[in-house]
Amino acid sequence: MNTYKIAAIPADGIGPEVIAAGLQALESLERREGTFRLDVTQFDWGSAYYKANGRMMPDEGIETLKAYDAIFFGAVGAPDVPDHITLWGLRLPICQGFDQYANVRPTRILPGIVSPLAGVGPGDLDWVIVRENSEGEYSGHGGRAHKGLPEEVGTEVAIFTRVGVTRIMRYAFRLAQSRPRKFLTVVTKSNAQRHGMVMWDEIAAEVASEFPDVTWDKMLVDAMTVRMTLNPRSLDTIVATNLHADILSDLAGALAGSLGVAPTANIDPERRYPSMFEPIHGSAFDITGKGIANPVATFWTAAQMLEHLGEGRAAIRLMQAVETVTGDGVMTPDIGGSATTQEVTDAVCEAIRASNI
Ligand code: IPM
Ligand code: MG
Repeated sequence: MNTYKIAAIPADGIGPEVIAAGLQALESLERREGTFRLDVTQFDWGSAYYKANGRMMPDEGIETLKAYDAIFFGAVGAPDVPDHITLWGLRLPICQGFDQYANVRPTRILPGIVSPLAGVGPGDLDWVIVRENSEGEYSGHGGRAHKGLPEEVGTEVAIFTRVGVTRIMRYAFRLAQSRPRKFLTVVTKSNAQRHGMVMWDEIAAEVASEFPDVTWDKMLVDAMTVRMTLNPRSLDTIVATNLHADILSDLAGALAGSLGVAPTANIDPERRYPSMFEPIHGSAFDITGKGIANPVATFWTAAQMLEHLGEGRAAIRLMQAVETVTGDGVMTPDIGGSATTQEVTDAVCEAIRASNI
């Protein structure tokens, strides 16, 4: 029996509601498979912890997490704590401290979910966005001078390194190679940003020569939004910088019907450290505590976690269960249903029990 140590960090807003749902689905899978066990430890880090202790997690937080096989993360953000504190106090130190440089965001239109794009249904939109997750526009470089004076300046420096770009490009080409279409689109803005982005284009061409069986093309990020909207079938695997992919993945989520179903995996491909799995949607204060948060993004990221841990069959079983349930119309209000978080979760757990792959 394989046992995996999982650190669950539900954190803020609807995070605790969706992580509780995700853990229920994972327990059903453990029982159904009977071949692995998840040893889950819950951590109470986040904005409430910040208000009590002046920091989002203990000083030794990163060190503590090193002992785990994966991190199952809810959401950070609270109405009364500045966003840059919650983000830089918990989620980014984990991503950067564990060098989780590949952020993987699959998008599909699940059965029963209606895309805002006319005539586009399941099968027409099947993408994986690979987001560079360690540098670029999120490097944290820059500063403020002459604060509050008329001559105040603020700089936000995007950093691109040959090592950073090469490794994410290799990851993206390898992922594209593993998918049936073997097709990668490299997104930059190398017409306007003539240094780092031109280097991206050059490194893409270099790495492409290592993958002769992968077809690839290039898009400028602005034109990419048009292609995603008007020609979704023309895309498969996509790689972009930290900020560009942040924006494109919100668009992808919306085109697939809701950000409430969009998952993300923060991966250390070299497996030196634990990887982190989370829904993209954030803490959603407007619906916190109402019991209607969509748990599907958390189920999907749980499937990514299982796949990363080597439990591929359980990952497939979980996604099949989710698709059965959305196909049956058991959905939360954000995707047009009237079910609660618990009702969707119970239906998914039941579909797991009933599945026979
Ligand atoms: C995401 C989110 C975050 C990001 C926010 C919460 C800072 O939008 O995961 O896409 O920009 O990375
Ligand atoms: Mg985002």
